[in-house]
Amino acid sequence: KYEKIWLTFGTSALVIFLVILGISAVHQGHSPAASGIETINPEHVRDDARFKEPGLYEAESDEYDYELYFVASAFQYEPREVEIPKGSRVRIHVTTPDVIHGFEIAHTNVNMMVEPGLISKYTANFNKEGEFLIICNEYCGVGHTDMTSLIKVT
Ligand code: CUA
Repeated sequence: KYEKIWLTFGTSALVIFLVILGISAVHQGHSPAASGIETINPEHVRDDARFKEPGLYEAESDEYDYELYFVASAFQYEPREVEIPKGSRVRIHVTTPDVIHGFEIAHTNVNMMVEPGLISKYTANFNKEGEFLIICNEYCGVGHTDMTSLIKVT
């Protein structure tokens, strides 16, 4: 009789353990989204409405004035040039279909790593007029040093 009780107890413990394992796996799967990093299939970057025609768009949320989308690929950024009205609060989203790139806006504190499979995000206020060069600061191949884009704050 005791054997049966122990067997039942053992089986229940195993089931509970597996359930807990399952729950934590689901939570871990969701944690990147919760922390603001979003995943994307690098082979389908262009199929994503946001990265089909990267550029500056009016923000839907009140938190930002604009959403700015960039595709970094060997060896260029799209868009090649973008104009931002002075005083704008901009949510920047960058992804890549190929290899790791950098995304640094010279003379600002915007500096991100861009990895295939992830969308890197940063919020920046453009309060100073002028031209700001975007440069790649992760070695990505022979065209690495030519990989630039320009932000014009007007
Ligand atoms: Cu892209 Cu270096």
